[in-house]
Amino acid sequence: MNRDAPLGVFDSGLGGLTVVHALRQILPHENIVYLGDTARVPYGTKGAATVVRYALGCTRHLVDRGVKAVVIACNTVSAVAPERLRIDFDVPVLGVIDPGARAAVDASTTGRIGVLATTGTVASGAYARAVQQYSTRAEVISQAAPLLVPLAEEGWTEGEVPNLIIDRYLLPLKEANVDTLVLGCTHYPLLKHAIEARARLHLGPSVKIVDSAQSAALDVAAFLRERRLHSTRTEAGSLELRVTDLPAAFMTIAGRFLGESVPEAEQVDL
Ligand code: DGL
Repeated sequence: MNRDAPLGVFDSGLGGLTVVHALRQILPHENIVYLGDTARVPYGTKGAATVVRYALGCTRHLVDRGVKAVVIACNTVSAVAPERLRIDFDVPVLGVIDPGARAAVDASTTGRIGVLATTGTVASGAYARAVQQYSTRAEVISQAAPLLVPLAEEGWTEGEVPNLIIDRYLLPLKEANVDTLVLGCTHYPLLKHAIEARARLHLGPSVKIVDSAQSAALDVAAFLRERRLHSTRTEAGSLELRVTDLPAAFMTIAGRFLGESVPEAEQVDL
């Protein structure tokens, strides 16, 4: 495997750019090819078989681009598809759920872990399974929070509308007495300020927030170093953006997710 080959990252659409943002901070010399399946987003409301089929197409596209590893930035895909992708493809495949679950176990003192995620991720039970690997004592209480995805896409990340919706989603987690809250969806880090503030109010001032994008990027960095797959380049890594629908809308919103100026995205067919 060529260690200077690019890292492939994919998501159902825009949200995975929060993972790219974290990756570019932690691994500034890596070239990254990002694929957003904007023609078929959202994945979070679809059945597992459909999501696996879409994930196979995205991974095939990245593998054909010669990537050295594939990072699944999407929580919904990470919940249902990694095993199948590892069987079908001969490159390392890393997801976001395992690192998020590990960070949550490390952060929690009571072992009561709340997860906000898409309907698909919650239905899969993937966070509960992943947490069980690290602690048999910990308990996961999951809450589907589908309305947070369009809020993030629209840039409604502060104020009374997101606060009201976040409050509703936090209610069952408050009743379950969680001390740690996992942002189990690519889009939620964009609402982190609002979620953090409302969580402090409802779940207590010392509640810990786990950003799965950040945990996943740290996990990818550790993996590349362990396998001696990290780039030897000293110059800044490049970023190539590919989308499956019109790039214009993607480009308008991408800057918010990426936190840097956005290179021209290319439209591709899977
Ligand atoms: N990328 C999805 C996730 O992290 C959120 C958006 C969608 O539903 O496709 O679960």
